[in-house]
Amino acid sequence: GLPARVRIHEVGARDGLQNEKASVPTRVKAEFVRRLAGAGLTTIEATSFVHPEWVPQLADAEELFPLVAGLSGVDLPVLVPNDRGLDRALALGARRVAVFASATESFAKANLNRTLDESLAVFEPVVARARDAGAHVRGYVSMCFGDPWEGAVPVHQVVRVCRALRDMGCDELSLGDTIGVATPGQVRALLTALDGAGVPTPVLGVHFHDTYGQALANTYAALQHGVSTVDASAGGLGGCPYARSATGNLATEDLVWMLRGLGIDTGVDLDRLVATSVWMAEHLGRPSPSRTVRALSHK
Ligand code: HMG
Ligand code: MG
Repeated sequence: GLPARVRIHEVGARDGLQNEKASVPTRVKAEFVRRLAGAGLTTIEATSFVHPEWVPQLADAEELFPLVAGLSGVDLPVLVPNDRGLDRALALGARRVAVFASATESFAKANLNRTLDESLAVFEPVVARARDAGAHVRGYVSMCFGDPWEGAVPVHQVVRVCRALRDMGCDELSLGDTIGVATPGQVRALLTALDGAGVPTPVLGVHFHDTYGQALANTYAALQHGVSTVDASAGGLGGCPYARSATGNLATEDLVWMLRGLGIDTGVDLDRLVATSVWMAEHLGRPSPSRTVRALSHK
């Protein structure tokens, strides 16, 4: 059966804005996060403590995080690629961090400048230190279904990386379809394989990009399997600067529309969320690609 409640992990301010050509002023980002919280989102990925030259769009993490850290009732996870990133995040009082691994060698190299095993070795002490500091740790796994350089990704590669991140102590995992090529049968097959490998469904979230318009169908397949954490970005912002052919994430509005229709509670006020995405689209100078945002803002 479907879950009674879904926790939306909002990634617009991070996955969305990391891919914008125009740099968004820090105060606009802070206002974006505040508006997302005002729309009822309770997990809002705020930024990344990565190398500022690798992702210049998020180079203002030190300025941004304190502007939003005081929001009550909201978790603000941040990405940390290594010890240096974790130090920066903990220094500002971050309580939730995410490391980000890849199921493929090509993307580990492109995104982290490391082999897959080197990147896992970097993460191990990061996860341990974060947990010692009392932080909640998410482990992303990118390229779970397809990779722009390697093509289809074998399930066993994904399972191996998921197991490694769990064994390190990650509290939750997020399965990334970084370039948005997955279809629901693949999602079912991966979730079944993870069950069989001792990675329990309750620790899993799903992270779909909507390149081929499959993100909602894939989400539905994951819900049917019992997944109840879903990543999405307001207005469908997003992509990844280090993966060719990655476009926006599943739009949070499209997700909320579907879940509302299914009677699944999210706590999100859809009208306020749409208004937020319309406001952000004005700042970015182009309309939101979300069908639901377009439908509800043209009524
Ligand atoms: P590197 O060049 O190999 O770094 O990059 P290094 O370890 O060799 O260090 C070189 C210099 O960078 C040193 O400075 C470090 O201190 C500094 P120096 O001693 O030479 O003066 N440095 C840092 N400075 C600030 N913050 C840091 C940091 N780390 C090192 N954290 C590195 C390796 C991991 C840093 C780089 O590759 C990087 O920053 N990558 C991040 C890429 C990224 O953010 N990608 C997007 C997020 S992933 C994603 O979008 C997918 C996801 O959405 C899921 C999905 O869709 O699949 C999550
Ligand atoms: Mg992503």
